[in-house]
Amino acid sequence: MKIGLIGAGNMGGAIYRALVQKFSPEDIFVCDHSQEKLDALGVTHGFTKVTDMLPQVDVVLLGVKPQTFAEIHLDLSDKLVISIMAGISLGSIAAKTGAARVVRSMPNLPAQVGQGLTGWVANENVTGQEKDLVQEIFTSFGKEIEVNEEAMVDVITALSGCGPAYFFYLTELLQEKALTLGLSSDQARIIAETTFVGAAHLLEKNTKTAKEWREAVSSKGGVTVAALSHLQKQKFDVIFDQAIDAAIRRSQELKQ
Ligand SMILES: NC(=O)c1ccc[n+]([C@@H]2O[C@H](COP(=O)([O-])OP(=O)(O)OC[C@H]3O[C@@H](n4cnc5c(N)ncnc54)[C@H](OP(=O)(O)O)[C@@H]3O)[C@@H](O)[C@H]2O)c1
Repeated sequence: MKIGLIGAGNMGGAIYRALVQKFSPEDIFVCDHSQEKLDALGVTHGFTKVTDMLPQVDVVLLGVKPQTFAEIHLDLSDKLVISIMAGISLGSIAAKTGAARVVRSMPNLPAQVGQGLTGWVANENVTGQEKDLVQEIFTSFGKEIEVNEEAMVDVITALSGCGPAYFFYLTELLQEKALTLGLSSDQARIIAETTFVGAAHLLEKNTKTAKEWREAVSSKGGVTVAALSHLQKQKFDVIFDQAIDAAIRRSQELKQ
């Protein structure tokens, strides 16, 4: 199978780098307006015009911005189309490109370091063998979760798509607090980043769940419990729950 990526931007570039590690570089084609972006990626089969690339590929990965997609007119009727575009439905992609076989996905930012999480849904025409290929593509830059209903892509968007921002926000708050408590800006940054990244590495070891780790560091009557009890009393769980619901609603509103 020859895979053609349209758009070598932030996400497309990261996906290209992952794909050429996993598949034969001979099978990976990329198109971007910018020859500079193609050169920076060291692309072997690069194109600046999408119509030059399409005849060579079986699978098309749509990595352009949703607003750009509205302006492109492509006939992808004989391709397996995999979109990473936020908010463009399976039906809109099929209607706009003539493709019968469509996958809609939502990768997240850590895909850029090979640690992404991609939620995806396929329409009824995508075969089991094609789904295996889709999984291989997504696991080249992290983990993947297939969902059966398209509405779940909005849910995944609010959870793992936005998830890195929740983590960055907490990191930012810890850093700001360290500053107000008298640490230097370098020290504050080191404290916040090392603490959260270190904790994330512990989770990655998979020996305990997040809840188990939290309980392990929360001795009764101790310092951590003082902070966590305050969060619980102030209903941080309810606020966080509502925040995710707001993201789901926004994802549904923006869907085209
Ligand atoms: N960034 C994320 O964390 C993230 C996460 C999940 C999903 N996504 C989705 O990923 C998609 C890409 O996002 P991004 O941040 O990577 O965007 P980006 O950096 O703007 O990349 C898109 C690239 O596609 C090029 N392009 C646009 N139209 C083209 C065409 N007709 N032929 C060839 N190249 C074309 C653009 O070139 P020009 O700039 O010259 O137009 C640009 O280099 C979006 O749909 C977004 O919703 C992103």
